[in-house]
Amino acid sequence: MPTLTADPRLQGRAVKRIVYTEDGLAARVRELGQEITRFYPDGDLLMLGLLKGSFIFLSDLVRQVQRPLQVDFLVASSYGDGTVSSGNVRLLYDPETELEGKHILLVEDIVDTGRTLSRLMDLLQARKPRSLEICALLHKHIASELRYPTRFIGYDAPNEFLVGYGLDHAENFRHLPYIASLQ
Ligand code: IMP
Ligand code: MG
Repeated sequence: MPTLTADPRLQGRAVKRIVYTEDGLAARVRELGQEITRFYPDGDLLMLGLLKGSFIFLSDLVRQVQRPLQVDFLVASSYGDGTVSSGNVRLLYDPETELEGKHILLVEDIVDTGRTLSRLMDLLQARKPRSLEICALLHKHIASELRYPTRFIGYDAPNEFLVGYGLDHAENFRHLPYIASLQ
């Protein structure tokens, strides 16, 4: 593991601590893959990654699932009256794959308020999938607005601002192989 002051990827920015190491993430993602494999004994499985934050998690996770599956992405945008998310969600990229009759597993980097996720789940439920579940690498458990259970959770995350392994701060730090706290 790099020492935090010496890591050239951090642009001189101080991060408080590494919360999840590269090796720890790999082991946990392998376990999640096994859980997912066991949860879906039959049927068509479509793993849908919510961009951009899930891109590293999804690509590691799908390689740990030992059954046939398909991969697609969602790009969502909140819209409304400005800086505070209104809870309205629009799809900027809609999966090309047919959703009806398939097991859909929505893969998310982190559940914070759960606002976006709830609206997205409503949209996806309307497409009549055979089942619809959420897999989140991190869950802050303050998600007062999430009206759906999170079936698969990598870690119960501390209520700190986390970066790396797909998670960004102003689009930076997504490429860190570990997850660190900025606070
Ligand atoms: P929610 O709709 O409030 O649950 O927001 C979830 C989204 O906010 C995630 O997909 C992330 O893009 C972002 N987010 C929430 N918490 C963090 C964090 O600690 N670090 C980086 N991004 C975060
Ligand atoms: Mg973000």
